Amino acid sequence: MEVINNISQLRKSLALHRSKGQTIGLVPTMGALHEGHASLVRRSVKENDVTVVSVFLNPTQFNDPKDLERYPRTLDADCQLLEECGADIVFAPSVKEIYPEPDTRQFSYPPTDSVMEGAMRPGHFNGVCQIVSKLFSYVEPDRAYFGEKDYQQIAVIRRMVEDLGFKLQIVPCPVVRQDDGLALSSRNTLLTKKERVTAANIYRILNESRSLGLTVQQTHDYVVDEINKIPGLEVQYFSIVDGDSLADVNSWDDAQSIVGCITVFCGSKPIRLIDHIRYI
Ligand code: PAF
Repeated sequence: MEVINNISQLRKSLALHRSKGQTIGLVPTMGALHEGHASLVRRSVKENDVTVVSVFLNPTQFNDPKDLERYPRTLDADCQLLEECGADIVFAPSVKEIYPEPDTRQFSYPPTDSVMEGAMRPGHFNGVCQIVSKLFSYVEPDRAYFGEKDYQQIAVIRRMVEDLGFKLQIVPCPVVRQDDGLALSSRNTLLTKKERVTAANIYRILNESRSLGLTVQQTHDYVVDEINKIPGLEVQYFSIVDGDSLADVNSWDDAQSIVGCITVFCGSKPIRLIDHIRYI
């Protein structure tokens, strides 16, 4: 496995693979890798000749400096896991390498990037589009792998790919959950043992809400009320939306695919956890 820190070396190495007709899979990450990332890398290894994993904690997508500061940084352990998963290239550049000058590009794909996380974290998806578009142009992958845990992120990236005409396939990969249902996330390591146990209620309640035969509004209220009843959890938002456009729906007949996307504050720090559930 090659570990590369600069763009020209990455391009050189990939040109060699491409000249042999090899296909390239890209798994963009911000490090602090866990089994969820590993599942993306293994899938890319299976489906492509060469797998590139980027490990870059992208500052432009953090609107809260404290959040960026406390984000776990574990490059050595990440490289060990990536080697075990069969990755071929780890691209781990510095911030200066990616942003020698401030990136002033503006991306706007409403409603996908303006609702939910877009409304709560202004500029977040703009930063995601900045880094992902740069990675796509450096790597020129045939396929790029993203976890469905960040459901909204995939919807925004799909719009960006259409807009900028990148010739690649976006491969959404299912959420990996622990035995009690908690979605794997790098942020879980910031939870205390007690908070970690409490956090499992989020998915339990989301899952319960699928089988109660309630209307969209009743389902919304059920999830919010039940989660807020649990000490240590506070719902920031829960939106039931069209699974493609992310526009709000009022009835189960409003769209062919409907998902509920939630963000919950957990514990006293607090840690923001996101999850989603598919209704249709
Ligand atoms: O999902 C993430 O970890 C990040 O948003 C991504 C796609 C790697 C861009 O920094």
